[in-house]
Amino acid sequence: MEFFFEIHKDLPREGPGDNESTQKAFNFLENLPSNPYILDIGCGPGMQTIQLAKLNDGYIVAIDTHQPFLDELNKRAEIAGVQDKIKTINKSMFKMDFEEGQFDVIWSEGAVYIYGFEKALKDWHIFLKKNGYIVVSEASWLKKNPPAEIRDFWNDAYPDIKLIEENKDRIKKNGYSLISYFILPENSWWENYYTPLEFRINELKEKYQGNEEAEKQLDEELIEIEMFRKHSDYYGYVFYILQKIE
Ligand SMILES: C[S@@+](CC[C@H](N)C(=O)[O-])C[C@H]1O[C@@H](n2cnc3c(N)ncnc32)[C@H](O)[C@@H]1O
Repeated sequence: MEFFFEIHKDLPREGPGDNESTQKAFNFLENLPSNPYILDIGCGPGMQTIQLAKLNDGYIVAIDTHQPFLDELNKRAEIAGVQDKIKTINKSMFKMDFEEGQFDVIWSEGAVYIYGFEKALKDWHIFLKKNGYIVVSEASWLKKNPPAEIRDFWNDAYPDIKLIEENKDRIKKNGYSLISYFILPENSWWENYYTPLEFRINELKEKYQGNEEAEKQLDEELIEIEMFRKHSDYYGYVFYILQKIE
């Protein structure tokens, strides 16, 4: 785990995404109060948290279990001048004890998979106000019948990955209407995530040359990047914008 964080520290973000997509998703939310109360789950170093803070006059509670990410978020929020609009809490998404009906919006970019997409739809419902929103980005199949190589990769990494159509059914079944959805552009995998990550991996390969355990972990991360290079037609990150139905 420690080595994982050596690979991942100080990256612009910890998953695919970009400020334009955060803004695009936010713009689908209608009739929010002027100062919405937002929960950002698995916020990481907080690129999307800070963008959200700039997009409205509300207040954001951002939770993550890795304190260095929260420290980085706080630092970035100060630089952006939005520190008074964000509170970071070192808390697991599995141990959320917020009051019922508290949030106008629950946001989670690239982290809902940790909890499980459908389980999150069921369990997070309770924290939303009437007509509240859940906005998540989630790895999804974009096409049926992927090549064996990438199907096996995902079966291993995240067997619960679904087609967009399947996720639409899960959304409907669990008390939400799907306001909209869109696929993250490929560039948002590269610019803020895979390009800096690949650079870091290559640096660490030199540093840890001969250390079998480290080399193995670095190679695994490279395989993930290579899979995207080869098979990005078949899967992507999809933003799902949902509204709670009573
Ligand atoms: C793929 S990263 C996404 C981070 C950020 N949202 C982004 O898009 O850059 C997933 C994040 O979830 C956090 N995480 C992992 N397990 C968690 C848990 N049980 N509760 C809350 N956050 C968790 C990780 O520390 C990491 O910051």
